[in-house]
Order: sequence, then C-alpha cells, then structure tokens
Amino acid sequence: MQSWIPLVPESASTFSWQVDALYFYLSGVTLFFTLLISGVLIFFVIRYRRRTPYEIPRPIAGSHKLETLWTVIPFVIAMTMFGWGARIYFNLYKPPANAIEVYVVGKQWMWKLQHATGQREINELHVPVGRKIKLIMTTEDVIHDFFVPAFRTKADVIPGRYTTLWFEATKTGRYHLFCAEYCGMNHSGMTGSVIVMEPREFDDWLSGNTGGTTPAVAGQQLYQTLGCASCHGANGEGGRGPRLAGAFGKISPLESGQSARVDEAYIRESILNPQAKLVAGFGPIMPTFQGQVSEDQLVQLIAYIKSLQASGQPAQAASPAQAASPATAPSPTRNLR
Ligand code: CUA
Repeated sequence: MQSWIPLVPESASTFSWQVDALYFYLSGVTLFFTLLISGVLIFFVIRYRRRTPYEIPRPIAGSHKLETLWTVIPFVIAMTMFGWGARIYFNLYKPPANAIEVYVVGKQWMWKLQHATGQREINELHVPVGRKIKLIMTTEDVIHDFFVPAFRTKADVIPGRYTTLWFEATKTGRYHLFCAEYCGMNHSGMTGSVIVMEPREFDDWLSGNTGGTTPAVAGQQLYQTLGCASCHGANGEGGRGPRLAGAFGKISPLESGQSARVDEAYIRESILNPQAKLVAGFGPIMPTFQGQVSEDQLVQLIAYIKSLQASGQPAQAASPAQAASPATAPSPTRNLR
C-alpha cells in the first residue's frame, strides 16, 4: 500500500494525480524561489560586503525595468496556480449526474452510511471500482468532515444542510476514512474504511447484505404515517399541497415571485420550515415537522420523493440484489442506527 513517493498517501482515485501534480508544482515553485533567493542573498552578502571602515556605497535611484519584471513574473506564476487550482476544485466539487448515490449521516463519533439499495453500514463504505460515487451527507450534531486521503478528497459535513462529495476509485483495496474536523472528545477515533471492490464482488456483497429496506421504501412508509399523503396525495400527485411526483430536479415557481430548484436541501427545508419557500398558488397551511423526524428519516423522505416519477409511481428498485432475497440475511449493522 505504498505509492512511488513515500511522502504522499496511496493514490486511488481519478483525482489523485491531479491533486498530486498541483501539489508538486506548488512545492517545486516554492523550492526553486527559496533556493534562488537565499542563494542570491548569500552571494550579495559576500560580494558586496564592506571592505574598508568608512566605505559609502553608490546610491541607487530605482529601476522601472526591474520593478516590472518582478511584478509580472510572480503575477503570471500566481495565476497559473489559481487557474490550475480552480479547475481541480470544480472537478472535485461538481458531482456528475450519473453517479451511484450513498447517504451519509455523521454523528459523534461515527459515520452512518446507507446505499440507495437499502444496505446500511457503520464506519465502512463498500463501493465498486471504476464507478462514480456521490455521497449526500449531513450530520445529527456538530460539524464533521469526510476525508479519504487516498482519493485526495474531503468535504465538511454540516448540521442542517446537505453537502456532497464524489469520487471514482481506480484501485481495489481498503482505504482510510477520517473525520477531519475537530468534533469533540473522540474525534480522533471517528475513523473508518472505504472498501473498493471489483464490480462483481461488489454485487455479491450487495446481495449478501440485503435486509435493510431501501431509503425510498422506508420514506414511503414515513410519508404515510406522518400524514403527508393527506395533502400531497397518496403517490405525491398533489392536492391541498403541491405535487411532488416528478418535481425533483425541476425549478419550481414560488409564491414570493422567485423560484427554487427542488433538490435535497429544498425538500429538507420544506419539511422542517414549510413557510420558508412556499410554492406559487399554495397558502402557509403546512405544519412544521421540526423535532419529529430524524436526519435519517429526512434522508428517507427525500429518497422517496426523488423516486416519485411524474406518473405517480415510485421508481423500481435499481439493484438486482434487492429482488434476490428479502430480509433473510440481516446486515450486522442494521440495528445499530
Ligand atoms: Cu467527527 Cu471529528
């Protein structure tokens, strides 16, 4: 598990070489100028030392040429760093549309993860190699930070909102997962592993770990028990409340005259603080569900609403694993939530 340079962690994602290349460029530039400046400094100290006790040097009035040179060169170098860094940043933080989604909830001091196919994990994440994985993350208490050094990617996990992180692993293996934001007494123990598997192995792992209901199905049950159906329709077709079927990802006009994209954050806010962004044509009649639903349940409700197609039917479970064996092999982590 050693990379060719002993100073950097193993390189196991499509980002790794990009981040490393920039890192080595920054180190190279820094080293070059450190050597150049200290070398010239030492040379001048010796070359222009005072040779007689009352020596007075010839005054220098300044040079526009020199001033321009040492302004333009650093500017150009700084701009290459900025442009290069910005490009990598946008790669890192703009998740692709066709990624496999995993929900992550951080809490003191563990990571709870759930696959869209229902499998739950604690402090471990199994993913297939060569596939894009998108994490939709929030926390139950304080700020944490999801950090996988081998993938060269990390993101804060913040209470009350969703942050996303994505990666594509290029090598199978087991990689460290750290919490990289001080979050209390056992912060240093808030670690785990990302296990990257061959796609076939991963499918086997998925089918060996059925037993959890999918977030979307759990969300559907919640949708009924919380009474969402009485206003939004049994299948999200709408009624006294706005239509939810097919709404996800669309731009919705608001009562305030503005508009909002229906994404995870918008649905979350609308459940906890329904008056914040009323859909055009609807009054402030929805009660808040603040304190009645946990972060896990919010994730499930969102997964259900996401799954509602415009036809009003929930999407079919995507994984063949789901159809294989219902509830016969409970996941060891299932009851730990
Ligand atoms: Cu969680 Cu540090």
